Parts: sequence; C-alpha cells; structure tokens
Amino acid sequence: MGLNKKSVDDINVKGRRVLVRCDFNVPLKNGVITDETRINAALPTIKKLINDGGKVILCSHLGKVKEGPNEKESLAPVAKSLSEKLGKEVVFVSDYNVTGEAATKAVAAMKEGDVILLQNTRFRMEEETKPQKAGTKFAEELADLADDYVCDAFGSAHRAHASVSVVTEYIKKKGGNNCVGYLMQKEIEFLGNAVENPVRPFVAILGGAKVADKLNVINNLLEKCDTLIIGGGMAFTFLKAKGYEIGKSLCDDEKIDYCKEMMAKAEKLGKQLLLPIDTGIAAGFPDPIDAPIDVTYVDSSKIPADKEGLDIGPKTCELFANAVKSAKTVVWNGPMGVFENPTLAKGTIAVAKALAETDATTIIGGGDSAAACNQLGFGDKMSHISTGGGASLEFLEGKALPGVVAADDK
Ligand code: 3PG
Ligand code: MG
Repeated sequence: MGLNKKSVDDINVKGRRVLVRCDFNVPLKNGVITDETRINAALPTIKKLINDGGKVILCSHLGKVKEGPNEKESLAPVAKSLSEKLGKEVVFVSDYNVTGEAATKAVAAMKEGDVILLQNTRFRMEEETKPQKAGTKFAEELADLADDYVCDAFGSAHRAHASVSVVTEYIKKKGGNNCVGYLMQKEIEFLGNAVENPVRPFVAILGGAKVADKLNVINNLLEKCDTLIIGGGMAFTFLKAKGYEIGKSLCDDEKIDYCKEMMAKAEKLGKQLLLPIDTGIAAGFPDPIDAPIDVTYVDSSKIPADKEGLDIGPKTCELFANAVKSAKTVVWNGPMGVFENPTLAKGTIAVAKALAETDATTIIGGGDSAAACNQLGFGDKMSHISTGGGASLEFLEGKALPGVVAADDK
C-alpha cells in the first residue's frame, strides 16, 4: 500500500529541533522494563535524526496515569535504556509539567545530534481529554519546543491525543513539517499490504476473549480474506450461535445475532469460516491463572453444561494449522486459549508453530498475540509483529488512524 505521507526521508533536519512522538508505553516491574520491544523499534528513526544533525526531542505516554503524575509512571527508566542503546546520553526532563521552563531550557541547550526525552505526556491531563474540552494549550506548548514533528508512535496512532495529532496543527501553523517515522512506515506497510493487497490465499486468525471487542475486525477481515479462523474465548459465542451447548464458557449473549450474521455473510461471499471442532474444558477458569488444572477435550458441540471451554483441542489445532499451511499471507490477532497457563497454552502454541513453519508472510497483531508469540519463543520466526495492540486492531478494522492522518501528504 502506498503510504502517501511525508516521512523522515523527505525532510532535512540539520540543526532543527524535531519533536518525535514514540510509543514508549513499556511494561515495568519494580521500575525495571520487562519488554524493550517498543524501545528497540523506535531506534531506527531516532538514529537517523541524530545522524542527520537534528536536535531530537522525544516524547511518549506511559501507562494510564489514572491518579495524576507519579514516579511509578515516570519515563526515567526509558531514558536510561535509550542512553544505553544509543551509546549517548539522553537527557531526561523529569518535570511533571512535561513542557514549560525545564523543557524549554533543556531544548535551548541542545546541540546537533543531541537527544532529550520529555516526561510522560499523560502527566498533563490535556493530553488525552477531548481537545474541545481541555483546550489545546499543551499541544501548542509541545509544538513551541520544536520546528518539525515526527510521529513514530504506531501503538498510540489510534488516539487523537495532543502529542499524537493535535500538535501537528501548531507545527503546520509555523511552517514546520509533520511526518511519519520508520516504525510507522513499516507497520503500515505490513498491515496495509496484508489487508488491502494480500498475496493469496489470505488467512486471518482471530482469538481473544470477546466478540464485542472485534466486531468490525471480523466484518472487515471477512471481506478481505479467503479464510477466517476464529478461536479463543470469542469462538464460544459463534458456537452458541450455531445452537451448541457451551456450558460455562465465555459468551457475549448480545452478539449471538451478530455471529449468525457473520456466518451467513461468509457463506454468501464464499469465504471459509473455521471454528473450533474440539475444545479443552475444565471445571472453571484457573485461579491463579497459571495454577495446575485438569483439562479434558470434547467435541465443540458437546461441552457439558457445568464445564468451561478454555483452549482449542488437538483436532482444531490440526485444522487451523492445515489452513495456515496453504496460505501465502497470515494475519493473527488474539490467543486461542488461556495461554498464560501451560496446560491451556497448547492451542496458541500450535497456531504460533504453524505460523513459524510457513513461508507465508506472517503478521502478528500487537498486545496479547505479540506477547504470546514472544513468550512462547516464536517471535523471531514471524515476518512482522506489530508494536500496536489497539492500533493494529483499528487498522485491521479499516479505520483511519489519527496519528497517520495528521502527517503531511507528500
Ligand atoms: C498500548 O499500549 O496499546 C498503547 O501504548 C496505547 O496505550 P493506551 O491504550 O493506554 O492509549
Ligand atoms: Mg491482541
């Protein structure tokens, strides 16, 4: 898919102040980053801007910041990690106000090739709230710090937030460039090609807990793919829509009609829609999630009333793996079962393995599916693992992402 947006290759940043919105929303445990994927993914753009003599001002959100600014959601650990990875000091502006005196001073002291990181953008309430209500002062202050703006925060690109899209209006007002970075380009190239221009057969695999979260993804992918595979918790609503007993399994009761509609649509379009044919069942959800659990496998049309389906069964694993074998493009979003539990990870492992073994282009939606792939050791076997959870889903829905829309056209 041709992304007709200005990129970092289209601008000359020498001596210019460049504000770069990244998605450094990384998982932290006791102040230690437990998965650096998003930081690594941001490096190519940052290095390019350093090498070109730009003054690189990085910003990002971290966490939800529900109770206001706090040290636990400070970006300090990210600054430290970036310094190590870039082999040069990344000056961290720790001020909870993000913009303002401290930031302005730090920017003024920058030389070509220097890098600073601003504090968590969500420490400013105006970052997230609808601009009409909160005002656009924060976006304007961010723009004041820079000459040009680069959005490389694919994982946040579905949010029309101050630092993701509103800021571009102020950069534009003063004649600066708004462009996308290499990570954005790569994500959009893989996800965009898969959906709009796939090498066929194109197999889409959806899992995860709820049908309700993926209504538009199901609908859009059904139109684009050749085979749609549905596993995970969301499969049970489909199974119930077929009239099966699903016991205590997850079910979106209000979405049963929707599932019927989708099954009818698949038939009308001549698309293959694959559902589980056997299911791993237990007395209930494991508590804690990785607790030992007794699992038996039954036909998916015969789940006992007092049992809960928690994984796909071995026959389904084979069915899904065979569909993947004949594919040339595979998009996967959402685990097939409770993969955090070793006994219930078998279905997710089988699908990950099938993707790892094929020569097809394999694209993994972010969030849980990316975590599952990496945790199960298949990460480096995939063509592309998206750094965006919600963003990749909205992309697969066919929605325009505010962070992409806001960049200048070429
Ligand atoms: C993510 O982790 O999905 C992105 O960083 C977006 O975070 P958010 O869902 O809190 O906006
Ligand atoms: Mg996911």
